[in-house]
Amino acid sequence: MTQLSAAQKQPVQGVRPSTDSSKALYGGKSTRRITVRDITAAKERGEKWPMLTAYDAMTASVFDEAGIPVMLVGDSAGNCHLGYETTVPVTMDEMTMLSAAVVRGTSRALIVGDLPFGSYQEGPVQALRSATRLVKEAGVGAVKLEGGERSHRQIELLVESGIPVMAHIGLTPQSVNAMGYRVQGRGEEAAHQLLRDAKAVQDAGAFAVVLELVPAELAGEVTRTLQIPTVGIGAGPETDAQVLVWTDMLGLTGGKVPKFVKKYADLREVMGSAAKAFAEDVVGGTFPLEEHSVH
Ligand code: KIV
Repeated sequence: MTQLSAAQKQPVQGVRPSTDSSKALYGGKSTRRITVRDITAAKERGEKWPMLTAYDAMTASVFDEAGIPVMLVGDSAGNCHLGYETTVPVTMDEMTMLSAAVVRGTSRALIVGDLPFGSYQEGPVQALRSATRLVKEAGVGAVKLEGGERSHRQIELLVESGIPVMAHIGLTPQSVNAMGYRVQGRGEEAAHQLLRDAKAVQDAGAFAVVLELVPAELAGEVTRTLQIPTVGIGAGPETDAQVLVWTDMLGLTGGKVPKFVKKYADLREVMGSAAKAFAEDVVGGTFPLEEHSVH
């Protein structure tokens, strides 16, 4: 039998190792609820996966039926669902209510609930109290919080207490008042800090880490360095997973969306036209017709 050299055994660059497709996070056969262990196994298989935000049961059920394996009840609900300007005002009561709705609307996706600003910054005990609420009252399978080195004690206590944590580094929107919305990790010192943050959250026990708005090359380096999966948003193509805010991805968000968003539909146009057609029917007396009436 011909022996393969070490170089021949390496996967061709850009080509993922073959996977058992029945286990795949996206497109796999399993209908049971996905767990963080499945996410860890996907990194070992070299599998890429998609994540979307969701803030209500009906939208979440559409994404669940489409096979999206992980949904984030992000505090982006603040600006994408609740009408705030930023994520800063979002409360634990709001996150608990929205997370519970998304859990109720889904049966397969792993649901990750975001800890809002002010619900974990005081320290590990406050973080545990807040995360426990999302797990017990909303039924999420994991929580997310922002910060690298600065949040490692919170992550450690949550993980020790049995709550899986997705970390979030790079641009952290809850710190908008301090850092603005700027690309993070540009320049040598900032790149080193991002790598330190990534290692700190992995060492603290996070099962995955979001990299938001960081240069693509640096996100690739972090992804190759870590054992846990990276989830990119505005972080180029080399992360293990990609997340988008659903209202951006489906074209519901009004005004300008960030450069890294790909719009897969124009729901704002579809919904606006449908609302106008309904209004014109009502005003013109063409709705309801006989077929919409009961007798
Ligand atoms: O709140 C959110 O939607 C997020 C994603 C952008 C990762 O944190």
